[in-house]
Amino acid sequence: MKFFIDTADIEEIRALAPTGLIDGATTNPSLVAKTGQRFEDVIAEICSIIPGPVSAEVTALDAPTMVREGKYLAKIADNVTVKVPLTPDGLMACKALSGDGIPVNVTLCFSSGQAILAAKAGATFVSPFVGRLDDIGEDGMNLIAEICEIYEAHPAFHTEVLVASVRGVGHVIEAAKIGAHVATMPPAVIRALYNHPLTDKGLAAFMADWEKTGQKLNVDKSVAAE
Ligand code: E4P
Repeated sequence: MKFFIDTADIEEIRALAPTGLIDGATTNPSLVAKTGQRFEDVIAEICSIIPGPVSAEVTALDAPTMVREGKYLAKIADNVTVKVPLTPDGLMACKALSGDGIPVNVTLCFSSGQAILAAKAGATFVSPFVGRLDDIGEDGMNLIAEICEIYEAHPAFHTEVLVASVRGVGHVIEAAKIGAHVATMPPAVIRALYNHPLTDKGLAAFMADWEKTGQKLNVDKSVAAE
């Protein structure tokens, strides 16, 4: 499963990129607004840090303008994926942009029917929002399981399921168990994946015992001999 980072915060992206675990990034107008910076500059900078797909969302609501905006955004960097909303116009724009070889992420997906439409429109990714479904008392992960099942049953569909609106480690684990292609995660969720109290406790014990040996690995000498 690919890991995308779900933020427009450049410092957070710079901090987590060296892990080597970040395969792409997703942004939306709300995340970009939080930065207070020019949209195109933010996208260009993220694209220069993350080599994989970086989603940049159109802001128009009508298909012709979405297509124009999508083509403009795609010129910012080779790794831009144009994000469009799951509306009739968004899917028309998706079909046109995909037909021109521009990868498209169809966002704000809340049902399997919508996901089928996104696949038929040639989307590279569809983004079902699990957290927002959970918020209204539905089960977001059930939707992920259903979309994955439908896509698997239709080899002609090449759309990847990008699990979005991820709120915690539990969502990531469930997405991985189901076999979703991508999970996009806020930086805090990526960090939380590392955590287990027994790791911290075990490491502290190993370090304390190592200290007692009074030994030191002679790394400098071995590096000099290389
Ligand atoms: C990513 O593409 C989505 O825009 C994002 O995951 C939405 O998350 P939220 O529901 O926490 O705002």
